Amino acid sequence: MTDYRTQVAIIGSGPSGLLLGQLLTNAGIDNIIIDRVSKDYILSRVRAGVLEWGTVSMLEQAGIADRLHREGLPHNGFAMAFSGRTERIDMADLVGKKVMVYGQTEVTRDLIKAREQSAALSIYNTEDAQPAGFDGSSAHITFQKDGVSHRIDCDFIAGCDGYHGPSRKAVPQSAIQTFEREYPFGWLGVLAEVPPASHELIYANHPRGFALCSMRSNVRSRYYIQCALDDKVDAWSDDAFWDELRRRLPREAAEAVTTGPSFEKSIAPLRSFVAEPMRFGRLFLVGDAAHIVPPTGAKGLNLAFSDVHYLFNGLQEHYFEKSDTGIDAYSQKALERVWKAVRFSWWMTTSLHRFPETGEFGQRIQEAELAYLASSRAAQTALAENYVGLPF
Ligand code: FAD
Ligand code: DHB
Repeated sequence: MTDYRTQVAIIGSGPSGLLLGQLLTNAGIDNIIIDRVSKDYILSRVRAGVLEWGTVSMLEQAGIADRLHREGLPHNGFAMAFSGRTERIDMADLVGKKVMVYGQTEVTRDLIKAREQSAALSIYNTEDAQPAGFDGSSAHITFQKDGVSHRIDCDFIAGCDGYHGPSRKAVPQSAIQTFEREYPFGWLGVLAEVPPASHELIYANHPRGFALCSMRSNVRSRYYIQCALDDKVDAWSDDAFWDELRRRLPREAAEAVTTGPSFEKSIAPLRSFVAEPMRFGRLFLVGDAAHIVPPTGAKGLNLAFSDVHYLFNGLQEHYFEKSDTGIDAYSQKALERVWKAVRFSWWMTTSLHRFPETGEFGQRIQEAELAYLASSRAAQTALAENYVGLPF
């Protein structure tokens, strides 16, 4: 049994735990991160690809944005495809902002590298992590590693442990309210070492289902198609994937798709979920532990980072200004921004996917919505304003 003592104990070494840890370490606030999986497993996860500029600024603040600026792809616009046509949303012109295409895997790699260069402790391959004592003054985490029990005593616990983690579950049910919507489809995603179909992202509405053309670099493409929830990855051959993708894109985009062997293929369900509040005494829920958005609006990672922004500022005020104003406001401030992103992600999802229950009527309504978007600078501005990220 090892007993640790730290100021902030962080459960979860995903992007939110790692960024919070890095900001705290830079500020001289002691922290320990634990994760149930290995470092290699964390680095093998392929997820988000689009960073809001606020996210880029936070990575700059954390001192880990050099490679991001060298290798990331700044995007001034993206395309919405529907009814056989393509409409460009010019974010730079509409709202004077851009986004950065840079994979979550690379963000995580940069954060882990920086942590390893600092003296901060990360403990991987933990089991049975359990936050406790957070409603009083003896906050701590217990966990097992290699069959041995451990305990971390701390001032605060940051639950950065994703949707399935133990932090939210440790809160008494009477103290938490949850809001949830599951969508009746999933996303089948593929990574391939081929140049992207277009230098900007294409979000496509099609009667056969949604499709998304994205990328990780000028030679690596990331594509998604809407699939049935019970589809099995192994039942989708590469050829079947490429054929289905091209069927759902306008002709010009379909002809520009370069096919090749995939080296990652996975299915993700789509869900909207919010837990309120996000603070319980000395325990804070951060990122996917508190909220999930369907990936269509590219908001999940970015929301996790805005939570970190509010929490880090609150913790700094607590330690350096002896004020709890920031941590007291954390839940309300974070949730206000969360709900706006939940709404936007829901709107992108409902406008672009085929919903089995709404039939031809639903498809026509979507096409009318997208045709309106194409004809209205006001509608495009609202889309662009949300896509680049609301201020925090
Ligand atoms: P996570 O990344 O889930 O990290 C949680 C960590 O906690 C994990 O490392 C996990 O191992 C650890 N953990 C869990 N349980 C325990 C335990 N019991 N003990 C210890 N540790 C534990 N977002 C965007 O912003 N833009 C996009 O373009 C985008 N695209 C996406 C595409 C797909 C296909 C998917 C699936 C997601 C996408 N997202 C996107 C969402 C984004 O990936 C998540 O919102 C983001 O990973 C949240 O980070 P997090 O650190 O809060 O949680
Ligand atoms: C990617 C994922 C998204 O959910 C999205 O909206 C845009 C891009 C991606 O993985 O590249």
